[in-house]
Amino acid sequence: MFGGNLTDQDKGLERIFRPLPQTVIQANISPTEYEAAMKRGEIDFEGFWEEAAEELDWFKKWDKVLDRSGAPFYRWFVGAKCNIVYNALDRHIETRIKNKVAIIWEGEPGDMRKLTYYELYRKVNKFANVLTSLDVKKGDTVAIYLPNIPETAIAMLATAKIGGVHNVIFTGFSAMALRDRLKDADARVLVTADGFYRNGKVVNLKAIVDEALEECPGVETVVVVKRIASDIDMIDGRDLWYHELVDVESPEVEIEVMDSEDPLFIVHTSGTTDRPKGVVHVHGSYMVGVYKTFQWIFDIKETDIYWCAVDIGWITGHSYGVYAPLMAGATTVMYEGHVLYPKADRMWSMVEKYGINILYTSPTIIRMLRRFGSHLPLRWDLGTLRLLGSVGEPISPEAWLWYYKNVGKENCPIVDTWFQTETGMIMISPLPVSLLKPGSVGKPFPGVLMDVVDTHAKSKKPGEEGFLIVKNPWPAMFTTLYKDPQRYREIYWEKFPGYYYTGDMAKKDADGYIFVRGRADEVLNIGGQRVGALEMERALRDHKAVEEAAVVGIPDRIKGEVAKAFVVLKKGIEDSDDLINELKNKIRHELGSIAILKTVEFVESLPKTSSGEIMRHVLKTSQGSSKEAE
Ligand code: WT7
Repeated sequence: MFGGNLTDQDKGLERIFRPLPQTVIQANISPTEYEAAMKRGEIDFEGFWEEAAEELDWFKKWDKVLDRSGAPFYRWFVGAKCNIVYNALDRHIETRIKNKVAIIWEGEPGDMRKLTYYELYRKVNKFANVLTSLDVKKGDTVAIYLPNIPETAIAMLATAKIGGVHNVIFTGFSAMALRDRLKDADARVLVTADGFYRNGKVVNLKAIVDEALEECPGVETVVVVKRIASDIDMIDGRDLWYHELVDVESPEVEIEVMDSEDPLFIVHTSGTTDRPKGVVHVHGSYMVGVYKTFQWIFDIKETDIYWCAVDIGWITGHSYGVYAPLMAGATTVMYEGHVLYPKADRMWSMVEKYGINILYTSPTIIRMLRRFGSHLPLRWDLGTLRLLGSVGEPISPEAWLWYYKNVGKENCPIVDTWFQTETGMIMISPLPVSLLKPGSVGKPFPGVLMDVVDTHAKSKKPGEEGFLIVKNPWPAMFTTLYKDPQRYREIYWEKFPGYYYTGDMAKKDADGYIFVRGRADEVLNIGGQRVGALEMERALRDHKAVEEAAVVGIPDRIKGEVAKAFVVLKKGIEDSDDLINELKNKIRHELGSIAILKTVEFVESLPKTSSGEIMRHVLKTSQGSSKEAE
């Protein structure tokens, strides 16, 4: 098992956890149905997904489930007409879900808002009308630079409802990173806030926007949500207050009829290029994949209160924080701030206060909370919890077991879900009725065929490490990289012809359970967030003192991984602590707070292949002995 040496206390970790009797009794999908679906998925994945699609509402059904003719540009539900927002909101307004709470939101200072489906529907419609009044048309990008507040979901849904394409940009990104993304996505309208609360402080979001827009003439209109009511500069003719705009709009709007393959959103992610890439998702297949995986993996019930405790700006927030729970008609919790504010029991207090049944979070958060001890979760009543989820990075058996015992009280299965910005939906995860192995993400979802292979795409033997690939097209798959279809083909589909390359290393055990090791490419996973080594290297190289730089990931007890840079200085330049700080600040300034550069080591030269490529793996191995890495 990964994670190194087990301590005496942890020896029980190799255990397998059988499904809990009460889980099996209550589960939407019984073990027998699950097994049948797995078999069905193997022989007829198109049929499996077609049946899933039948559970949603379409304006017109498809002529064909899957068109492979333009592979790797696969097209799902060809000829169908739909809009994901119809499934997330409009259809519920005709049922008793209409008056159910859709979103429970808590601000970091403790303020709270609850919105029913009907209220959310009307707010979305009003903002959709605002966007139309700002001349947003089908296919136009609307950029959203907002924290976890209801207006973020409202802006996403409003954009999609009128056929626009949303591009949510995580609020941890700096002005420069924001600017790069706004330019790349050709955004003309940006929705933001005056600021928000984070870890007891105010983040002045609008000031960051103003800086970003100095060099971003494409953005003509900025809609500003008043969250903190601070004194901010509003630029005449460009900046408009959200509340003033929605006030005068009608709460009804015509929904745009979309082709199944029309774009829904862009999320930028880091990969093997020196700039982030816009991953494009479309209405039809995305809604099917996300809906079905949510129903089965999170085993959602009508009375459930579900909390996806991650930022809306990431794919997890899009798929399982907004779209899936709304399509399922569930009540979803949203939290603005830091999980350690004001104390490390904020999450537990919220579980008790709202009676949360399903909690979905990341290993970094679990490790962070674990560090504060097991007595904190004991102080709160966590008895409503029925199911736990983990996402974004490998979870060690130790952290898994802590979560299982201290949060789930050995009464809640843990679904460790593997997916990517590109896959849109969860691809590998146990179901609540599965056998659970701490540290394993379980098996691929029914209708998703994956394998661990060598460089020739040959299956690895059980226990052997290899490349993780997907063998069939799946719904919710991204359809291209924005403005760069060539890279889409090259990066993902050419390394193993005919298959999708995930960029991850993994191994399978004899039962087919997958253990994900981490990235095989130049992508770091810092606290469950992707940071491209090449993006950091580009920023370092831009510094006047730097000749060359290489960035690798080094282990970190809380964040899983942080970055270390090997830097060759220009001739005649002396290294110094000041220079190290300058380089660290440059990274933060250009890429944002998630790109944590922990250490800088100055070297004479970088190890390279004969063709001049930097051998990062050599640096990665050599850093094990470096004192600075500690
Ligand atoms: C990369 C994708 C999935 C949403 C958040 C991240 C890693 C993701 C797991 C997991 C081990 C995981 C992979 C993957 N990853 N989930 N359960 N166990 N690793 O989305 O930013 O696109 O990153 O995160 O390395 O390739 P992302």
